[in-house]
Amino acid sequence: MHKRYCNLNNPTSGRTALALLLASAVWMLVGCSPSSPPPAELAFGQEPYLRYCASCHGNQGGGKPPTFPPLAQSEWLTLGSDALGLIVLYGLKGEIEVAGQTYRGYMPPMQHISDEEIAALLTYMNEAWADGGEAVSAADITRLRGAFDGPRAPLDGYEGLMDALDAL
Ligand code: HEC
Repeated sequence: MHKRYCNLNNPTSGRTALALLLASAVWMLVGCSPSSPPPAELAFGQEPYLRYCASCHGNQGGGKPPTFPPLAQSEWLTLGSDALGLIVLYGLKGEIEVAGQTYRGYMPPMQHISDEEIAALLTYMNEAWADGGEAVSAADITRLRGAFDGPRAPLDGYEGLMDALDAL
C-alpha cells in the first residue's frame, strides 16, 4: 500500500535490496506522504468530525475567521461535554466571543447525527484540542437529546447555552 505513495524503484542486487528495504521501512515509519494518509490512520472520532464539522470549522479545527470560529484553542471546549453536545444537537446563534474574536453566525442544529457519532467526534475534539481529553459516551448524548420537551430553538449565544445547561 505504501509503495503507491513512495514510488520506490525495484531493488537490483541483494545489498541494494537490503538498503532499500531499510530505507523504505524508515520511510514508512516517518510517514512518506503526510498530506494524504491512508484512511486507516485516522484517529477514533476523526472521521465523523471531518464529515460533519470540518466544512465550517476546518480539518485542523482552525475555523474560517471571521465567519466560522475555531475549535482548536477555543475556550468553549473547556465548558465540558454537555455544553458541546447541546451545541451540536440544538445549534448556536447570536453574537459570541471565541479566542478573542467576535462572531455573529448561525450554526444549524444537527440532530440527524447519531448519538454514537456525536460521542465519537466530541471525544476526538477533546483529545485533539482540550486539555482534559474527556471521553464522551453515546448515553451522554441520548440524555441531552431527551432533555427538553419538543423542539428547541438554537441556543442564543453563551447566555443561551448557560440557560440550557441550568435547565438540564
Ligand atoms: C454550517 C457550518 C457549521 C457546521 C457544519 C458546524 N458548525 Fe459549529 N459553529 C458554526 C458557527 C457559525 C458558529 C458560531 C455561531 C455564532 O456565532 O453564534 C459555531 C460555533 C460552534 C461552537 C462554539 C464556538 C467555538 O468555536 O468553540 C462549537 C463548540 C461548535 N460550533 C462545534 C461544532 C461541531 C462539534 C460541529 C460538528 C458536529 C459543528 N460545530 C459543525 C458553524 C458550523
